[in-house]
This record gives sequence, C-alpha cells and structure tokens, in this order.
Amino acid sequence: MSINLPYFDLVLERLAKNDPEFEIAFGRHVHWGYWADPSRAVPTAEDYALAAEALSQQVYGAANMADGQQILDVGCGFGGTIASLNENFSDLNLVGVNIDERQLERARLKVAAQNGNRIEFKQGDACALPIADEAFDRVLAVECIFHFSDRRRFFDEAFRVLKPGGYLALSDMLPAAWYANIAQLGASASPTRQLFGHCQVCTMSGYQRLAEESGFAFTFKKDITANTIPTYAFLLALKIQRTNGKLSRSDLGIHGLKLAGRLGLVRYQILGFQKPR
Ligand SMILES: C[S@@+](CC[C@H](N)C(=O)[O-])C[C@H]1O[C@@H](n2cnc3c(N)ncnc32)[C@H](O)[C@@H]1O
Repeated sequence: MSINLPYFDLVLERLAKNDPEFEIAFGRHVHWGYWADPSRAVPTAEDYALAAEALSQQVYGAANMADGQQILDVGCGFGGTIASLNENFSDLNLVGVNIDERQLERARLKVAAQNGNRIEFKQGDACALPIADEAFDRVLAVECIFHFSDRRRFFDEAFRVLKPGGYLALSDMLPAAWYANIAQLGASASPTRQLFGHCQVCTMSGYQRLAEESGFAFTFKKDITANTIPTYAFLLALKIQRTNGKLSRSDLGIHGLKLAGRLGLVRYQILGFQKPR
C-alpha cells in the first residue's frame, strides 16, 4: 500500500545518498518549521531541524499530553513526533501509522523506546486505521491530513479509536473561505502536485462541519502562520531540484505557498478536538 508523494521519494533518495543537509533537516521530521521569533531564523539545516522539532511540540501541546497515555500518531513519517514524545514523556504507549512502509522502516531503525515507553510502527491508511475501537487517549496528525483521501473518514476513524474524553490534535494549512477554490486549483496544478502529490484543502468552516458531523467538540485553534514563514527561505535555499540556475517547478510551488502565507490567504493552523466523555 502506498501513495504518490514525490517529495518523499526525493527525501528518501537524498537520505540513501547520505546527503548531510537532508539528514539534518528531514531525517527526523518532514514538515514545516515553527520559529518562536521568526526574525532570528537562519536558512541552515540545523536551524530548520530545531524549528521542525518545535512545530511537533506545538501540535502535541494542543492535545493535553501527560505521562502514561496511549498515543496514536497518524501519518507519522519517520517517527519524529513519536521520537519527541519518547524523549519528553514516560510510560507512554506510542503507535505510529503510515501508509508508506519505506518511511516506517527508517522510523523503526531510528526511534528506540526510552523512559519506560513502548513504540510500535504500523503500516495502514488514516482513513481505515488498523486500530481497535477506543484504544487511544490521543490521536495526532502532524501536517498530513491534506494528503488523506477523505478528511471526514479520517475524523470518523479518529473518533472511533479514541477513548471517551480523548483528544485529536492536528496541523494543516487552511485557505480563507473566499480563496479556497483558488487554493485547490493551486494545489492541484502541476508544479505543486509534482512535488507534493495529492493535496485537498479545507477551510475553518469545513473543520467546524467535520467536528460537528463526526461528534467532536472543537477545543483548540492556534494560528502559527507567521512562525512558519522562514520555512520557505530554507526550502528555496536548499534548491530541491537541481536546474542549472533556472527556476524549478518545485521552487515555483514553494514561492506560491510563501506568497499565500505572507498575504494571509492560506494560514497554518493547529487545531484540537475532543471526543465527549
Ligand atoms: C508532510 S508528511 C508529515 C510526516 C510526519 N507527520 C512528520 O510530521 O514528520 C505527510 C505524511 O503523511 C503520510 N500519509 C499520506 N497519506 C496517508 C494516509 N492515507 N494514511 C497514512 N499516512 C499517510 C505520508 O506518508 C507522510 O509521511
């Protein structure tokens, strides 16, 4: 089971070649960075890795984490968020689910349980989770929900696997309501699609509807757009596709996202939801 995510093929290819910049920047987390003070950001792999770690912490910070919980990280990538929880909490039961077995192979190699935690990485689809009902206290989905085939099905699945009173926390890039159709056209256009694969956008009112329809209470909302803007300078400095000095398709897609972020047309949000007790 897999899906077409060209940027992950590229990251895996560079990691296989031991590219030191990719190892530092994307060897653990593969998502945008969070800078508490964006004016202090520098476009280096080391600074980016710290910011990517901070973004994971922002997302799980929305889920009222505590020692001893059962945590499911959906779309877990290389297991960076699980690695961070493993380092900062104890006696957790941590399960990472991802559709792409290649990422899970790396996660299993890189993330070793400590602090009395237990860790398992399972292959599976976010929209048909290979998880029993009411097995988890927390469900996380860091910067991956836009790839899922059906957000509503994922919300229903998260609701099903959470215990009563449990929390779902996620991060996503939300277009303004009036801009949503244009954002979807941009996401589906070839420069973006050829780098990021399938991406489906959702507005804030779309999330309100999802929460209502699946039975969740909307509990947390934090707009961190300004804190993520230095991501673009780093991605552009990285020259993801080598093109002999010409603007590459991937750079075009990144410039588009940067402009939408700067103009506030697309906002990076952390969202939290609770299953009623
Ligand atoms: C931007 S990456 C984020 C990875 C990880 N959450 C992190 O923060 O480092 C998006 C992730 O979503 C995963 N993904 C995409 N569609 C999925 C699906 N239907 N079910 C499970 N995982 C999926 C991808 O394989 C990828 O690991």
